[in-house]
Amino acid sequence: MKPILAFAISAVLATGAYAQNFPSKPITFVVPFAAGGPTDLVARHLAEAMRKPLGGNANIVVENAAGAGGTIAGTKVARATPDGHTLLVWHIGFAATTSLYRKQQFDPLKDFEFLGMINDVPMTLLGSTKLNANTYRDFEAYIRANGGKLNLAHAGLGSASHICGLMWQHAVKLDKSMTTIAYRGTGPAMNDLVGGQVDVMCDQTTNTTGQIEAGRVKAFAVTTAQRLNQHKLLKDYPSLQEMGLKNFNLTIWHGLYAPKGTPPEVTKKLNDALQVALQDPEFIKRQEELGALVVTDKRKTPEGHRDFVRAEVAKLKQVIDAAGQYAD
Ligand code: MLT
Repeated sequence: MKPILAFAISAVLATGAYAQNFPSKPITFVVPFAAGGPTDLVARHLAEAMRKPLGGNANIVVENAAGAGGTIAGTKVARATPDGHTLLVWHIGFAATTSLYRKQQFDPLKDFEFLGMINDVPMTLLGSTKLNANTYRDFEAYIRANGGKLNLAHAGLGSASHICGLMWQHAVKLDKSMTTIAYRGTGPAMNDLVGGQVDVMCDQTTNTTGQIEAGRVKAFAVTTAQRLNQHKLLKDYPSLQEMGLKNFNLTIWHGLYAPKGTPPEVTKKLNDALQVALQDPEFIKRQEELGALVVTDKRKTPEGHRDFVRAEVAKLKQVIDAAGQYAD
């Protein structure tokens, strides 16, 4: 953007009248993944739930800018006019990009306003039905004995399953690491796990519960610190922490972001609307149907969201650097 134009825009945005009339045109939620996937559904449900608290007639549209591990969407929003009308909905990959892409176009901690976290989505560690193991203990022993011959699938660099696979391998410290196979999305990765062409995958419950229920894959553990006691299907699976992986705690969370420099009165309006959405029974129900839990703690505030993401950036950097799996 030319400096004079940028100056003129920021002068307009700084006026109280701008914030008062916000939103003055449709808001776009930019999503870094394809339509129909978990992040897309979270964004679409949130768009519906935030419409009313933003003034009844607010129009929120979802734009899918998939590719490059989410960085196409991230770059687009980081460079958008900071007027509150272009926002980003992204999962944990937002915190991983800074380590995965050493030549990236934006800094998650410096180039965005944090509007609040939306949800947590637990993960499940899965194996093909061909694996000779039925419990997590058998599974881990089998992997230790056969690691070098086995494959771990994920849905592409920066995907939920990539991050979970890295974290689990980092925590379990195998002597011989598995061969990692990157697919173009969860669908093809899951198909090959079901077909037994690959052996192991760790993915969001949103993607896995149907397959587990149908007996097409074996589930061995959940990645949350505790068991999912409230979950009808997954309540009997142990957590990885319970299985001896000290401090293992991973959920795929989604957050809402605006470009850096969005006026505080506008970010406040957006966070207020998010907080209303997070208490909307219909939104909560739709998230639960996806296997997601709506955030109720201080991470729903901009400050709590930023503090949490800062800690996640540091945690993921350790894991990605240890694996040496970079995207560039
Ligand atoms: C992922 O694996 O990260 C997801 O499939 C992304 C999504 O579509 O929400």
